[in-house]
Amino acid sequence: MPRCAVTRRVHFNAAHRLHNPARPAEWNRTTFGVCNNANYHGHNYELDVTVEGEIDPDSGYVMDLAVLKTLVEDTLLRQLDHQNLNVDVAWFRDLIPTAENIALVCWRELRAVLPPDLTLRLRLWETPRNYVEYQGQ
Ligand code: NI
Repeated sequence: MPRCAVTRRVHFNAAHRLHNPARPAEWNRTTFGVCNNANYHGHNYELDVTVEGEIDPDSGYVMDLAVLKTLVEDTLLRQLDHQNLNVDVAWFRDLIPTAENIALVCWRELRAVLPPDLTLRLRLWETPRNYVEYQGQ
């Protein structure tokens, strides 16, 4: 069966602060710069959710994108959108909410609810110029 990758792009905005409480203040300032500012800052995140699998001969779909949209909204956006990631989101209680770690958490949560025969990769845009990609491992 031919395989194809399909992508849904979703948006959320959220605040965060990059800070490692296990390290001294000076290390945090040096490592994270303005992203370590105490009172948080926000981003308009774009998340590209790509699933890849065989094209179903009956529907012509890899996955109905309307179904994927609802799954992403229920699993991720409901938790992340308009939240302070450090303060409001339990996923980041012991995890610094860098773009890398946000992508990792989103992948784990989505993986758990996606059909197992589909592969999943994420591209998380933190700014129009910076993105990270994660596909497991
Ligand atoms: Ni930031």
